[in-house]
Amino acid sequence: MTQDADKPDVHGSNDNRSDEKRLIKVWDLPTRLFHWTLVAMVVIGYLTGWVFAENTMGIHLWAGYVTVFLLIFRLTWGLFGSEYSRLETFTFTPTHIIGHLKELATLRPVSHYIGHNPTGSLMVFGLLFVLGTITLSGLMVLGGEENQGPLAGAATYAMGDLAATIHFSFVLLLIAMIVAHIGGVYMEMKLTGEELIKSMITGFKSIPANTPELVNRKARPIAAIIVMLAVMGPVGSVLWALSTMPPSGLVALEPNDTYETECGDCHLPFHPSLLSTDSWTKMMLNLENHFGDDATLYDEATAVEITAYLTKFGGDKWDTEASNRFNIVDPKKPYQITATPYWIRKHKDVNPDFFKLKKVGIKSNCGGCHQDHYSGSFNDQSIKIPTEKKQ
Ligand code: HEC
Ligand code: HEC
Repeated sequence: MTQDADKPDVHGSNDNRSDEKRLIKVWDLPTRLFHWTLVAMVVIGYLTGWVFAENTMGIHLWAGYVTVFLLIFRLTWGLFGSEYSRLETFTFTPTHIIGHLKELATLRPVSHYIGHNPTGSLMVFGLLFVLGTITLSGLMVLGGEENQGPLAGAATYAMGDLAATIHFSFVLLLIAMIVAHIGGVYMEMKLTGEELIKSMITGFKSIPANTPELVNRKARPIAAIIVMLAVMGPVGSVLWALSTMPPSGLVALEPNDTYETECGDCHLPFHPSLLSTDSWTKMMLNLENHFGDDATLYDEATAVEITAYLTKFGGDKWDTEASNRFNIVDPKKPYQITATPYWIRKHKDVNPDFFKLKKVGIKSNCGGCHQDHYSGSFNDQSIKIPTEKKQ
């Protein structure tokens, strides 16, 4: 062995397979906490955003905010953490990565790395990037589609809609990466005999005694906290400033007594944003044939007032998810909200028995399940199915 080969390389790797083992501290507590909290947030995010969906959206948002914090933390800790948590100890060149992949492909024991190995490090950077994109696009969906959160004033519905596509595509990518990550860890454990999962819990790794160690710099938590505050301060201020903007898609609705009394007689008065001005006008001209009922008003003046109100606050004046989606009607039923493709799609998985509940009764009784139907927002967090026995 030459002198040079004895010197630890910058990544602390070793291809010498010695049987003698030595325990070494690799992952400091903050890095381990980061790793497992992130796992928990991804699982919670997946369950609340995909599996249980809508009515757990509040928890989903919190998982997102915690993830943003974790990402900022990890990048900072990548500068000031203890040796093997530092990004520079696992930034590899493409040659390194290809070399390691080739080694893995032989399915024979491979070089030991104390910290992240080259493919593992690629995964770390990839995951940080993908998670960053998922949380940022999520914030944009929240602001654009739901008119909530710091971007409610800045993001239009169209921006939110585009962000939703990005959010979903990156979640698919994330799932693929997690599968690859777990597969990679499993393979690496088989080929090196190292207990990688255990080391991410205890912080210690058992490695061949002659694996060269790095300089082993200590963590600098105070510097890390200062830098994190320095980053989060301005970012937080910008988000706070944006959050003071009024939600871009919502209109200041002036309640109208005539509308509420006359059109709230047989069913709840629907929010004016739910149909376009065009649909409302058509409906108002055809009240004697109103879904099998005669809803003709006593006098012309009342009809004119209601038409004016619905035209002033019709769907085309809003930029909410509901206004954008419900305004696309079934041409054969131009003023039936529950016949729009979006309504049907959103409610096709809702248990049909829910519509028969005493407090609901009929599918067009939006307020039976959507507590915020008066605002026209129809937020996921405000969906509450009444808990009572069937009629
Ligand atoms: C005489 C009772 C009656 C009055 C008054 C009435 N409606 Fe209706 N309306 C109905 C019935 C019945 C239906 C069909 C059942 C349902 O969907 O609730 C309906 C359905 C609707 C729908 C479609 C709901 C869906 O399923 O998508 C809209 C929109 C609507 N009404 C608006 C109005 C407006 C606006 C007024 C006031 C001008 C009004 N209604 C007055 C009885 C009435
Ligand atoms: C029986 C309860 C019930 C009734 C009645 C009901 N909904 Fe819903 N609605 C739900 C549930 C549950 C969801 C979530 C479905 C999902 O995506 O899993 C939902 C989803 C929605 C969404 C999508 C929310 C989002 O951000 O993804 C909109 C908008 C909506 N409903 C509007 C309406 C309107 C308008 C009416 C009345 C014409 C109505 N709903 C009647 C239960 C109901």
